[in-house]
Amino acid sequence: MIIAIDGPAASGKGTISKKLAAHFQLPHMDTGLLYRAVGYAMRDDLDLPNWEQVAIEKAQTLDLAQYDENDLTTAEAGIAASKVARVPEVRAALKQVQIKFAQQPGGAILDGRDIGTRICPDAEVKLYITADAPTRAERRTKQLNERGVNVHFDEILAQIEKRDADDKDNPAGAFFVAADAHLLDTTKLSIEAAFQAALQLVDGVLAQK
Ligand code: DC
Repeated sequence: MIIAIDGPAASGKGTISKKLAAHFQLPHMDTGLLYRAVGYAMRDDLDLPNWEQVAIEKAQTLDLAQYDENDLTTAEAGIAASKVARVPEVRAALKQVQIKFAQQPGGAILDGRDIGTRICPDAEVKLYITADAPTRAERRTKQLNERGVNVHFDEILAQIEKRDADDKDNPAGAFFVAADAHLLDTTKLSIEAAFQAALQLVDGVLAQK
């Protein structure tokens, strides 16, 4: 069984995916980390005239295990990820990594931006998780403050809105919602309520198979 979960930055898709993975005992891949790792690896190279070529090589030789997740979850890595994610050959290289992960015998859960549309178009279950931008910014601000990172809501909201816009007009990605995805808006939901709603959607789809 493959569960494909897509949605914008800080929508709650990561938390929901991890909880669903634990519930169904399926391996889980946060595919944003792949783009973040390439972005992070490019941190000193993004201004090079041939940065796209360098990014393609980094994507083709990526070993995610070499990266510390703390370095990948920063806002800077997210912005760099969004930039390298616009290069078609970077997407093609990372697609292979994602497809390999998805082909594990017992199935898998993958979360990202184009899982239900391009990576696993035949996934048994597709969810599209969203929430309004101020809610996503509020959650991210709280999360960072709890980690001891001193950030303000306004700054995070501006970052989220910019990343939404960059991702939306990504010429290589053109992210869209799969026609057969189940929408879940978590704006007014707690983490637990959002997970329960997602679980109900997944169980509902499985019951019909
Ligand atoms: O979900 P995230 O914030 O970790 O993603 C970081 C960036 O990576 C995001 O701005 C767009 C890109 N991305 C992508 O293009 N395709 C994916 N499947 C996942 C992430």
